Amino acid sequence: MSPFLLTRTLPADATDAALRADVLSGLTQHPKTLPPKWFYDARGSELFEEITRLAEYYPTRAEREILVARSGEIAAASGARTLIELGSGSSEKTRHLLDALPDLHTYVPVDVSESALAGAARALLAERPGLSVHALVADFTHALELPESPGPRLVVFLGGTLGNLLPEERADFLRSVRARLAPGDGLLLGTDLVKDEGTLVAAYDDAAGVTAAFNKNVLAVVNRELGADFPPGDFGHVALWDPDHEWIEMRLRARRALTVKIRELDLVVQFEEGEDLRTEISAKFREESVRGELSAAGLRLDQWWTDAAGRFALSLATVD
Ligand code: SAH
Ligand code: AVI
Repeated sequence: MSPFLLTRTLPADATDAALRADVLSGLTQHPKTLPPKWFYDARGSELFEEITRLAEYYPTRAEREILVARSGEIAAASGARTLIELGSGSSEKTRHLLDALPDLHTYVPVDVSESALAGAARALLAERPGLSVHALVADFTHALELPESPGPRLVVFLGGTLGNLLPEERADFLRSVRARLAPGDGLLLGTDLVKDEGTLVAAYDDAAGVTAAFNKNVLAVVNRELGADFPPGDFGHVALWDPDHEWIEMRLRARRALTVKIRELDLVVQFEEGEDLRTEISAKFREESVRGELSAAGLRLDQWWTDAAGRFALSLATVD
């Protein structure tokens, strides 16, 4: 049996305090917002996995295509002995990298979703005896206490999750990744690319309504965790393309005027009919914007690979 450890870097009450702070600030500002990390309770993680299998949602397939084609090159360039994956989810695509790294010693998946980490670890334990897996339940935008493990280290951030951070959050995040890398370490970054609006909007507003259910799941999380009474049926799912920011915005739109009580916060929130709550941005990138954001954080873009259709990119970056 391979060694496996799951560490909660935050006690449950700290997670609770973070949710309270985010809900209080997000729902008392105009326009109303909630950060996307609260989608991912066990149900939200399952819904995300369902999204990755939808015909309209191309990013997962496109990124997998690149990983299948390039894992050997990535492994040769990095020679990683420790692979740290941020927002690892099911770790499903990561298997291509794990298979390509013969000297890998430790895999550190990091995610806010404990259920996703536990599921991924179960599968990895069964398939890869000998690999040490140290899973961390943690927020990757906060300081991470990484386990001691041998270098070189490859930090992996797949799926396009970087695009779920606002520009200033991305800059802070990339600087914090840079601060953890030593010479010889690397960052492998997946980014979805700017493309025609129809393809983008369909990926976030699928015909089967799975993304709508994923979007509304954040209301179920706030209802359960903070004793709120959001009526999910009274909100519509909205996905729109913002051409100025080059990001998709997901919103929940009140179908009628509503009064929502959030018991644990002693807070009453009013929604006008048609008012939106922004739940996610999903920024889309170009090669030059990725190069520029990496460079601003002290990272150099060494390799840029896309899928054959040019929909999604993987970047390999090192310390500048
Ligand atoms: N990397 C996987 C999963 C992407 S879904 C893939 O490419 O398919 C985004 C993942 O990031 C989810 O598992 C979610 O729980 C996690 N996540 C989102 N925000 C996070 C945060 N701030 N800190 C840690 N994990 C986060
Ligand atoms: C995790 N992240 C990259 C996904 C995305 O495409 O922005 C989350 C998602 N939201 C709706 N569908 C998928």
